[in-house]
Amino acid sequence: MAKDKSIFTCTECGGTSARWMGKCPSCNAWNTLIEGSTEPAAGKNRFGSVHASLAPTSEVLPLAQIEAADFERHPTGIDELDRVLGGGMVEGGVVLIGGDPGIGKSTLLLQAVDALQRSGMNTLYVTGEESGAQVAMRSRRLGLPDSQVPVLPEIQLEKILHTLQARQPGIAIIDSIQTVYSDQLTSAPGSVAQVRECAAHLTRTAKSTGTTIVLVGHVTKEGALAGPRVLEHMVDTVLYFEGDTHSNFRLIRAIKNRFGAVNEIGVFAMTEKGLKGVSNPSAIFLSQHAEPVPGSCVMVTLEGTRPLLVEIQALVDSGGPSPRRLSVGLDRDRLAMLLAVLHRHAGVACMDQDVFVNAVGGVRISEPAADLAVMLAITSSLRGKPLPKGFIAFGEVGLAGEVRPAPRGQDRLKEAAKLGYTLAVIPKANAPKTPIPGMRVHAVERIEEAMAVVRELS
Ligand code: TYD
Ligand code: MG
Repeated sequence: MAKDKSIFTCTECGGTSARWMGKCPSCNAWNTLIEGSTEPAAGKNRFGSVHASLAPTSEVLPLAQIEAADFERHPTGIDELDRVLGGGMVEGGVVLIGGDPGIGKSTLLLQAVDALQRSGMNTLYVTGEESGAQVAMRSRRLGLPDSQVPVLPEIQLEKILHTLQARQPGIAIIDSIQTVYSDQLTSAPGSVAQVRECAAHLTRTAKSTGTTIVLVGHVTKEGALAGPRVLEHMVDTVLYFEGDTHSNFRLIRAIKNRFGAVNEIGVFAMTEKGLKGVSNPSAIFLSQHAEPVPGSCVMVTLEGTRPLLVEIQALVDSGGPSPRRLSVGLDRDRLAMLLAVLHRHAGVACMDQDVFVNAVGGVRISEPAADLAVMLAITSSLRGKPLPKGFIAFGEVGLAGEVRPAPRGQDRLKEAAKLGYTLAVIPKANAPKTPIPGMRVHAVERIEEAMAVVRELS
């Protein structure tokens, strides 16, 4: 075989290039290209290990002849977790669960795996970060002193695989994938190559044995699962923990789910006895001011299937020669864009001001329906005038200053009315056909119209 077909693969994003470059052409990371493909073929790979495919050669069949059996699901009994998983753990499915240290990954998974063990499933908890004694201590703390979950303190991949083959558990937790290493590879434990290869092996094992495997992954400061973004492509489901470790509330969001809806969220509260689901979470991201304060605007965001009320805070303060724009929980580029729209279409200038915006409670809002609330909060802070009591707003704002509809506006309005909000500024296209009891709605088409309505009201 000709050896001129070499290919270079990025260890960060998995992108490929036909020649070596200092900078990855896909993700622009430096010095991440290594020779070889990410998914080594059977036979010797670049690390010298042998990857004999575990599955036998499959037959080629027309789609119609392939049985489309529904996935076998095992609900964990923790409703909020089952909701993000799309109904429970799937047989042979691989779930990656990421989040900041100390946010509650190990706690939640121990609770889930204990519930499954109690329901009669054969489980396995592989701990690489903590000793068996530490896991036992957590189980006592969770009020599960009689837990029968088998715990394996191990970090070597081959030993873990051996135990998986021998015990054939229904579900195995690997806490965490970053601690697992394989003897077969020359690279250091914890390196990108190690994490990726170990995850690939575990994924193959899950598929061939039907064991559900949950990989716990660390998140870097930048918010990505450490190193290998490529892990996200390998697994079936990617869940992220969000939330402020200083507050008690935690959000789990499905970023990718081959067995359910994405962007569905589960809401938990961290208590003395572990994570408890919050079944009616719509009001937890509000900071409950007694009286309205300048720079605060409540919006209704629709994450997954449930509307959530989130307070957007803004602080506009005179800045130096190069004023800062900072956002927490909202997209910073979008903030810059909204400031330009405010200036151009509503005559609100913040050029020489520092602008800070924050979504309360550590929640991250990615939908553009937050635009209107962000702009109203900024204007309110700039003018030092609070928005009216019981006020909410949502709607996307375009570059031309038009206010665009948000999906399922009715549901958002109803949820706000249920929580006692009485006044709303929303996009014209979201105007309710039948009035919502207790809610006065101002439907607007343009940002300057929204500003005028608010000025009149406050
Ligand atoms: P942990 O699950 O260890 O986090 P991770 O695995 O994501 O790093 O959770 C750690 C935090 O949760 C720790 O600061 C203690 C707190 N905690 C409680 O408040 N209540 C509890 O019942 C438990 C087990 C932990
Ligand atoms: Mg942990």
